[in-house]
Amino acid sequence: MSTFDQVLPTVREVLNEHIHQLAKLGSVIINRDLNGRIRLVLSNTLPDNAETKSAIATLVQALSSRLGLHCFPPENMVLFEPSFEAVLQNAPRYILEDLPDVTVVDRLATETDWSNISPASTLGPRIVFFSIKGGVGRSTALAVAAWSLAQAGKRVMVLDLDLESPGLSSSLLPGEIRPAYGITDWLVEDLLDNTASIFEDMVAISNLSHDGEILVVPAHGNNPGEYVAKLGRVWMPKVKEDGSYERWSCRLNRLLDQLQERWQPNVIMIDCRAGIDEVASACITDLGAKSILLFALDSEQTWEGYRILFQHWRRTGVVLDIRERLQFVGAMIPEIEGLNYRDELCEHAWNLFTEEIYDEIPAGENTGDRFSYDKHDEYAPHYPWAIKWHRGFAAVRSIHSRVQHIDLNEVNTIFGPLVHGLQTISETEEPS
Ligand SMILES: Nc1ncnc2c1ncn2[C@@H]1O[C@H](COP(=O)(O)OP(=O)(O)OP(=O)(O)O)[C@@H](O)[C@H]1O
Ligand SMILES: [Mg+2]
Repeated sequence: MSTFDQVLPTVREVLNEHIHQLAKLGSVIINRDLNGRIRLVLSNTLPDNAETKSAIATLVQALSSRLGLHCFPPENMVLFEPSFEAVLQNAPRYILEDLPDVTVVDRLATETDWSNISPASTLGPRIVFFSIKGGVGRSTALAVAAWSLAQAGKRVMVLDLDLESPGLSSSLLPGEIRPAYGITDWLVEDLLDNTASIFEDMVAISNLSHDGEILVVPAHGNNPGEYVAKLGRVWMPKVKEDGSYERWSCRLNRLLDQLQERWQPNVIMIDCRAGIDEVASACITDLGAKSILLFALDSEQTWEGYRILFQHWRRTGVVLDIRERLQFVGAMIPEIEGLNYRDELCEHAWNLFTEEIYDEIPAGENTGDRFSYDKHDEYAPHYPWAIKWHRGFAAVRSIHSRVQHIDLNEVNTIFGPLVHGLQTISETEEPS
């Protein structure tokens, strides 16, 4: 009896065993439906002759006997379609390993699938702050980093995309200067083409910076209003009158483009949700991020979570598109035995990257152009930018008043590698 995880490996095995029959069918789509059942989609222009019929029958028979409940019954297993484009529309898809003519179309109940990586935006650098586990100091680090880049004269825009648990904006803005609207309002109004009326009122300038500027785009406005009712609608795709369809993450991307064009920040920093979650997926894969900071504690749960993600990127063939944008951040490095802790974190991160992300270097070859780094290479994506645990930040009631009294010395001591790394990213030009 097969289970979900065995379905695609079994399909691969069966197709490889019958590779000559498969070759007679041209391009093939393996459609996996919402319940996890597969069927074959073939072109309706295939010649209607004995050879094709026998190839189809052989594959259907083999798949049916090996997959049981995880495929459609033989008489319904094949669909003949005039256009593959229609089948592929709006669904995650990827090439089945080793079989370039076979595309898997995976129907998910969610809209995002972590495997559609948009190219980095050309409008300016976007940096995403992500962590597998919550409560690791991600939003605090973002607020401090925004402050410090602004002190260095930059115009920084900060987006609170932790919509289910917003908080970043309160770290940067006291209540009285919050804007009237936020990202949730824009996403809901956009469904009715009504964003013009709120667009100018969803950004506020933080009073924390003296030299540069911190522009804050909150999750909601000073009055959250019917926040739950709005939150339940933000993920909606937009279906236009002409029938065209825009995924919610594309809508979000459109908002970022508009914000960038209107406010011209030097850099945008995005606080997204922790965990393998819908919004996090959109932030990491769909918003054209130049850099994705992966916050990590040295815990089994962290490594397991990142491994699941990295394996998914490998399986769906997008790892090459995303790996150069990744950067590990070591969160809350303890005061006691801090150096040992950091070394172990680095070792675990390196093991993970070597197994899942870096190119294999055959013995005796040098790295050359391959994407691979030495364990102790400080410029490697796995090498954690260390943020120290500091009692002055533990359980503070208001990050805003804490950051109000921070100085550069303290920032460098606790958040040094992060702020220096971000400075470099925000100043490096994209190769054109
Ligand atoms: N460097 C630090 N040292 C000690 N405590 C910290 C540090 N950074 C943040 N904290 C504290 O840890 C707690 C969590 O911080 P924060 O809200 O920034 O984490 P988060 O990763 O954004 O959490 P969430 O996933 O809930 O959004 C807060 O009480 C904060 O004051
Ligand atoms: Mg947070």
